[in-house]
Amino acid sequence: MSAPVMWTAADAARATDGKTTAEWACTGITADSRRLRPGDLFVALKGPRFDGHDFVAKALRRGAAAALVARRPDDVGEDAAVLVVDDTLAALTRLAQAARERSRARIIAVTGSVGKTGTKEALKLALSGQAPTFASPASFNNHWGVPLSLAALPREADYGIFEIGMNHPGEISPLARLVRPDVAVITTIDAVHSEFFSSLVAIADAKAEIFEGMSKTGAAVLNNNNPFHRQLSIAARAQGIRKIVCFGDHPHAMVRLTDAKIGAEGSAVVVDIEGEAISYEIGAPGRHWVTLSLAVLAAVLAAGGDVARAARRLKDVRPLPGRGARWRVALDGGAVTVIDESYNANPASMRAAIEVLGANTPGPGRRRIAVLGDMLELGPAAPKLHAELAKALTEARVDLVFTVGPNMAHLRAALPAAMRAGHAEKSDDIVATVVAAVGADDVVMVKGSLATRMAPVVSALRARVGALSPRAAGSG
Ligand SMILES: Nc1ncnc2c1ncn2[C@@H]1O[C@H](COP(=O)(O)OP(=O)(O)O)[C@@H](O)[C@H]1O
Ligand SMILES: [Mg+2]
Repeated sequence: MSAPVMWTAADAARATDGKTTAEWACTGITADSRRLRPGDLFVALKGPRFDGHDFVAKALRRGAAAALVARRPDDVGEDAAVLVVDDTLAALTRLAQAARERSRARIIAVTGSVGKTGTKEALKLALSGQAPTFASPASFNNHWGVPLSLAALPREADYGIFEIGMNHPGEISPLARLVRPDVAVITTIDAVHSEFFSSLVAIADAKAEIFEGMSKTGAAVLNNNNPFHRQLSIAARAQGIRKIVCFGDHPHAMVRLTDAKIGAEGSAVVVDIEGEAISYEIGAPGRHWVTLSLAVLAAVLAAGGDVARAARRLKDVRPLPGRGARWRVALDGGAVTVIDESYNANPASMRAAIEVLGANTPGPGRRRIAVLGDMLELGPAAPKLHAELAKALTEARVDLVFTVGPNMAHLRAALPAAMRAGHAEKSDDIVATVVAAVGADDVVMVKGSLATRMAPVVSALRARVGALSPRAAGSG
């Protein structure tokens, strides 16, 4: 069975204002020749380090249906299927616009300081059980990731879920106008990328740009427990949006948390939705996943889906690689649990991960160990935001804390002496110390901003004895 056609040559040429000579039809879209699947339209984007035009020949050899280009590269034959446009990013954006116009799907956009990808993936899982659902891949949430995702929205989708992110004010607005969400979810507002903002109020304002792309019949999904909830509701109403679906444990929340039992590998949750109690399980650990699940159910409610059915799917949610994925690594006399949080870090997600570490019980006499690398882009508040983690670590009964980077030195200074383990300026220089310190039945959590490069610590721990297994939540 062949995949349904996404764009024909004629439709794509019309949408992009481009010129194509060949007859072709694509079944997918990619800008990465390494991930190309036969039948994809390859979009030659120009980045700071690469020019996609250098990979067009390779993409066509690997089975691309056609390539979207600003010029035919010299190493590509004249009879090749190319769609020539003025500017590939602008043309891709026009293609995305056309995809939005022709779609009958309910469109859900997810933004917020943390939890966008987790919410998007969980929403996809929850809705795909009830109707054809498409979600943007990975964390494709910026000026090229959003158009690339939207242009790939299948015609037959009933739900389309898009992640929208930003580092600076003004970045969400054009993306929201492109996506035109029926439902906009703001997960939470917190100090992330805060060096580019004067205050958290300014961060909330920037997230509220998402409402600019919405019609009056759209719905805003907001976290009632977030201190910026009022500011966001006012911003939504200012855009004429009347339907606001709130989630949280606040008495006024429409998706109201009434009970949560938080375990090391997942949670059991009860919510009240308009007087009806719904119980469900989440297959990923931590209070933050409970919060994300509320956002998911509120979005399903706002989008007109079946909430109870969506809730039942959440037991199959798993922490994503680098964002809480767990590994059991066999060691002499037992196994060590490694929690991989190396994909990114900010104060909110750091606290959440520390709490999960606290929910894990090491073997008798063994230890909870945190290996923490610098959280970046926090501006002048960085030393304080790092030092303040000492409290969360103590509360989570963490035994040892390894630290990496100049910011984490401030945390180290704030820790009780007994908790201080090794410190290094660079992650490469802590690997051997950590590997030597860890023993069977310890629980180790590794986290830091991506650029702090904590992933090698995880790889070294996982490689230590070889035999390793991804630990499926709920199966011991
Ligand atoms: N509400 C939350 N509070 C704290 N941490 C969170 C929250 N939501 C997600 N996280 C954590 O933040 C990290 C990033 O999550 P992710 O879903 O990739 O966010 P984003 O796409 O917004 O960058 C993960 O480690 C995740 O477990
Ligand atoms: Mg993301």
